[in-house]
Amino acid sequence: MAEPDRVDGERAARPPRLRTAVVGMGFVGPFHVDAVRRGGYADVVAIVGSDEARSRQRAEALGVARGTAEFRSVLDDPTIDVVHVCTPNRTHVELATAVLEAGKHLVLEKPAALDSATAFELAALARRRGRHALVALTYRGYPMVRRARALIAAGAAGDLRLIHGGYIQDWLANATDYNWRLEPEAGGASRAVADIGTHWFDTAEFISGLRVEAVFADLATFIDRRTRPLVAATAFGTADGPTEDVTIRSEDAATILFRFEGGVRGSAVISQVSPGRKNAFQLELAGARATLDWAQEDPEHLWVRSRDESTLLTRGPDDGPAVEVGVPSLPAGHPEGWAEALRDLLRPFYAAIAAGAAPDEDPAAAPYPTLDDGARDVAFVEAVLESSRTSSWVPLAR
Ligand SMILES: NC(=O)c1ccc[n+]([C@@H]2O[C@H](COP(=O)([O-])OP(=O)(O)OC[C@H]3O[C@@H](n4cnc5c(N)ncnc54)[C@H](O)[C@@H]3O)[C@@H](O)[C@H]2O)c1
Repeated sequence: MAEPDRVDGERAARPPRLRTAVVGMGFVGPFHVDAVRRGGYADVVAIVGSDEARSRQRAEALGVARGTAEFRSVLDDPTIDVVHVCTPNRTHVELATAVLEAGKHLVLEKPAALDSATAFELAALARRRGRHALVALTYRGYPMVRRARALIAAGAAGDLRLIHGGYIQDWLANATDYNWRLEPEAGGASRAVADIGTHWFDTAEFISGLRVEAVFADLATFIDRRTRPLVAATAFGTADGPTEDVTIRSEDAATILFRFEGGVRGSAVISQVSPGRKNAFQLELAGARATLDWAQEDPEHLWVRSRDESTLLTRGPDDGPAVEVGVPSLPAGHPEGWAEALRDLLRPFYAAIAAGAAPDEDPAAAPYPTLDDGARDVAFVEAVLESSRTSSWVPLAR
């Protein structure tokens, strides 16, 4: 927020607005631009892509003042407070480290890193630098996910027994579907689990308030040869032009057993190759008194089922966050979804920065998902890979 020439005239009466840059303009980057704007958190003053001319065009189309391929120019700009890193997985650590070293606050897409030791180092760097750092574990932003967490904490389900569900998609169901996520060098050793299983794992821990103690995983690659376009497509897009056949080295799907603390058991099916399933994230938590059941494709509802009667809760006006700036949550009956979850996930992060508050000493006390949460997510991926390799239960460190 340190921009002397903004503190003059009538603007001196109110704090200067934060200024944000977003790096990576494929599928998810533009939603970050949109989330920051609709939240009213900051002015998005720059976007960074991998090609100078395309970045300029993109900036113009989005109404952002600057589009560049010069990442360093954003770091060297003292008027930029926050940088969002929305690039492929392999680039996360290098870019996020540079953002923190430059003294900026960080929003980092998941997975935070390709290995958990590096992800925890990144978390330590953010602490040393006293910077706020959020990992985009987007599902925590849904109002009915937060409601489920509050109900569980209040004992509405009784003592938990089982936590199960899955995250199932079809966008890689054909051998002609291709994306950088299929290449371990770009996406990491795990694909389906790292890409979407991490969301399920984090949301299960977030709602239940319980830590996973161990996993037993079985990974499967059903399509072991794919047609790779020589010109890359963005996620969920298709590329035209010449292709080559390549061997696939990461999993299409996983079945995972969980042991949570307190003797709670669980399971999840993770797949990116199940025809007709688009973004079927579902999570069910069964306790001694009731079962809570939430599905991403029907995000405004939460089932609370019990032996005598079941109730379908609908998002109400009080389920969204209190809004002082930006676009508020829509009234009940006006559906909100993933884009709003991202908007609302960022709200406490930007509020803390705007208030000049230092990050919490204890990352668990942060009102948003931190790099420590992101690192735990990566540790989960590693445990799944090891379990599948050794056909055994693998513990997760606390
Ligand atoms: N939180 C979520 O729900 C969610 C959803 C989708 C994607 N993601 C994550 O977001 C990241 C990006 O995924 P995507 O689907 O948008 O991928 P994508 O391939 O559609 O877009 C990535 C973009 O980054 C650009 N890029 C690559 N290297 C760059 C660099 N060094 N500097 C600037 N730009 C660069 C590419 O040109 C491309 O435009 C991934 O890590 C993914 O896991 C998270």
